[in-house]
Amino acid sequence: MEQTFIMIKPDGLQRGLIGEIITRFEKKGFILKGLKLISAERSLAEKHYAEHSERPFFNQLVKFISSGPIVAMVWEGKNAIATARKLIGSSNPDDSAPGTIRGDFAIDIDRAREFTHYEHSLSRNVIHGSDTVESAQREIALWFPEGTTQWQSSLHSWIYG
Ligand code: PPS
Repeated sequence: MEQTFIMIKPDGLQRGLIGEIITRFEKKGFILKGLKLISAERSLAEKHYAEHSERPFFNQLVKFISSGPIVAMVWEGKNAIATARKLIGSSNPDDSAPGTIRGDFAIDIDRAREFTHYEHSLSRNVIHGSDTVESAQREIALWFPEGTTQWQSSLHSWIYG
């Protein structure tokens, strides 16, 4: 069993997608282990995206993530990291397949053509999911320093046998 960190970004909250997104993870068979609604300080967003600190869009991305509340979650399940990334879809909504969260709810927001320094570019893609075991562990520790909740879903035996 694996745990992954999932964040619903400020655009996901503003658009009323929290319930829809949680439903997709629940229906897939993942077990919710941590959940909170928080307004992230810029410093927390910077730590979260530290690996992208040299990218030209870093400042815009950090500014966006700390611009309003986000929903931070930990979901557990078989291959949770890779499977969650499939549920989420490609970073660029232009490329994300219908049926994925970004494919269904994110629009072409790559406005880099119109703005210099990537202002308002690809930040608004609704959701983030960890990409590796290492980043999942790092992100869970960063956003849930208090730890997550240990409980056994009654569905567990039906989903995992
Ligand atoms: S990479 O090269 O695979 O690591 O990049 P990618 O996973 O596509 O993107 C990493 C995160 O940066 C966000 N991103 C951007 N934000 C703003 N502007 C632009 N142009 C841009 N390009 C990528 C992308 O949404 C990823 O954020 P998360 O939250 O991890 O999905």
